[in-house]
Amino acid sequence: MALPDKQGHFGEFGGRYVPETLMTLLIDLEKQFNALRRNKAFRDEFAFYLKEYAGRPTNLYLAERLSRHLRTLKVYLKREDLLHTGAHKINNTLGQILVARRMGKTRIIAETGAGQHGVAAATAAALFGLECVIYMGAEDIRRQSLNVFRMKLLGAKVIPVTSGSQTLKDAMNEAIRDWVTHVRETFYIIGSVAGPHPYPLMVREFQAVIGVEARKQFLAKERKLPDHLVACVGGGSNAMGLFHAFYKDKGVGMIGVEAAGKGLNTHEHSATLSKGPVGVMHGSKSNLLQDKDGQVQVAHSVAAGLDYPGVGPEHAYYQKTGRAQYVAVDDKAAIRGFKMLSRLEGIIPALETAHVLAYLETLARKSKKGTTVIVNLSGRGDKDVNQIQQLI
Ligand SMILES: Cc1ncc(COP(=O)(O)O)c(C=O)c1O
Repeated sequence: MALPDKQGHFGEFGGRYVPETLMTLLIDLEKQFNALRRNKAFRDEFAFYLKEYAGRPTNLYLAERLSRHLRTLKVYLKREDLLHTGAHKINNTLGQILVARRMGKTRIIAETGAGQHGVAAATAAALFGLECVIYMGAEDIRRQSLNVFRMKLLGAKVIPVTSGSQTLKDAMNEAIRDWVTHVRETFYIIGSVAGPHPYPLMVREFQAVIGVEARKQFLAKERKLPDHLVACVGGGSNAMGLFHAFYKDKGVGMIGVEAAGKGLNTHEHSATLSKGPVGVMHGSKSNLLQDKDGQVQVAHSVAAGLDYPGVGPEHAYYQKTGRAQYVAVDDKAAIRGFKMLSRLEGIIPALETAHVLAYLETLARKSKKGTTVIVNLSGRGDKDVNQIQQLI
């Protein structure tokens, strides 16, 4: 069975739950995208910008000191932090902006949490001379002031969102509202494998380059496939980007790491797959943090990029079918992971990725010596150093 099916479903998840005004647009976008992904000129153009502008392929680096510290694990880092703008988000924004141009759109909008997607969208818009508006929660603006400044330098207009929890979910609500009113000239660049069909498919396809490269690089270095892939999960795009190329390699375990925030026994976490029942948000059906009345629950994580009460529908499907396993790591452990990689390898990771590094300690305790792991190092921590300075 193809995933997603023709209606954009991954089993019971996914789909397209949107107002009538967006339905026609999404159907058109799906048609255009399906034609473009088979079009050699488009694929070559995307590959050109990934290589020449973003800096692909990224290295698959054997972290020897980290591996020695963890004893049982041999850890390879897929260095998405080395990309232009500092995170995997640039892969997807370059892909979507090329689609937008082919559709004749002149205005780009995007939502952002940690600011990495906003910076990537503003970067791509500047590259092609398009107008760009970024919606960002006021709380995230406070946490990620450096990225806000970067977006403005790149010529984007940053609109603070003061409704709800003033984080990513609310920014996405506002972006959808803008989109409904300016549908004709506007292209909405969604930053993760979330939202209505065809976005989860489209973002996965643009991020899949991570896993395709990592699989080839690992085979060249180790002459076998890895035992585990591990990546952090906010909406799920860097994890899906790594996982997808290994989907059929049944011996390769996949582990997604969510944010347990202040603890899974509190309401202050973002562990959607660990704790959320199924629901509909932002045009898609997936696991969703909800209160007892079914209202969307405010998510929390020290990492702004993981602070999202929803998750991409394909991850919900992977969890339900047992293809991937999802675990959660709290704020405190994430800060420990942040320091651990900085000191052992001289690489300051994004706070989002730091959750994965902390989880490696748990995985190491359960593993036998020589277990191989690819960690998706989704971004670098420059954006987080101000925040960390206040926390430690
Ligand atoms: C560096 C980094 N990693 C991970 C994420 C989480 O997003 P996703 O789960 O879509 O990869 C973000 C989101 O902003 C991010 O900036």
